[in-house]
Amino acid sequence: MRLSGKVAIITGGANGIGLAACERFAEEGAKVIMGDFDEVTGKKEEAFFKSKGLDVTFLQVDVTNLKNVTAFVTKTVELMGGIDILVNNAGITRDSTLVKMDPADFQRVLDVNLTGVFNCTKVAIPYMIEKNAGKIINTSSVSGIYGNFGQTNYAASKAAVVGMTKSWAKEFGRKGINVNAVAPGFTRTAMVEKMPEKVVDQMKSSIALQRLGDPRDIANAYLFLASDESNYVHGHVLHVDGGIIM
Ligand code: NAI
Repeated sequence: MRLSGKVAIITGGANGIGLAACERFAEEGAKVIMGDFDEVTGKKEEAFFKSKGLDVTFLQVDVTNLKNVTAFVTKTVELMGGIDILVNNAGITRDSTLVKMDPADFQRVLDVNLTGVFNCTKVAIPYMIEKNAGKIINTSSVSGIYGNFGQTNYAASKAAVVGMTKSWAKEFGRKGINVNAVAPGFTRTAMVEKMPEKVVDQMKSSIALQRLGDPRDIANAYLFLASDESNYVHGHVLHVDGGIIM
């Protein structure tokens, strides 16, 4: 098993890509903390995983709130004895063109997608530094690399995640902690399913593989970056997008 005995926090773990990652990591022997704001779904999925014999525990967290994140990480360490892997996967969209964009929606997306990543890493990293080992995986997006119509806020937040990833790779490489990002392409989750089918069809035609990603496609990339197989991969942004732009 590729993550045997490792403690992994996956934020935004109750739905979509994060949920697939909770399953893949637990299948590979990790003790998974599913951190999410959505308590109803989180508890339901925790019960489902436990019924399959997978070690997944739900803990509620709002990644935008530093005090709340501190309590969440402290509880994780109390339960599990430490943290080996942090996947900063929680993210939201509030799409509209710049002209129509409500400043509150601009701020909310930055709060979750950018400040949330800062908060979780800031609080979890001391537990990795004390072991001189760890894996941090941040979720960016194709939108953060190439920009996207109607996604001023989202693209800005996801581009900033790349900047933070590379800065942390420089800061924490000497502490034995790998820091990388994954930039998913269009992936079949609630985030994409709320888009009109016509837009989704247009997306598909721009993908070399001519299909949307499955959440497990992205979870498998997280898994690689969380495992020892990627120990010399550092400060990298792994595009998992079916070949959108090459
Ligand atoms: P999703 O909407 O299915 O799941 C996101 C999860 O984050 C939900 O469980 C939600 O409750 C949680 N969450 C939202 N705000 C939170 C907060 N303040 N604190 C804690 N948890 C919170 O989204 P999906 O599609 O699974 O996306 C996962 C990540 O992948 C996100 O960072 C997203 O931006 C990124 N991504 C997704 C793509 C897609 O096509 N689905 C494409 C590129 C990137």
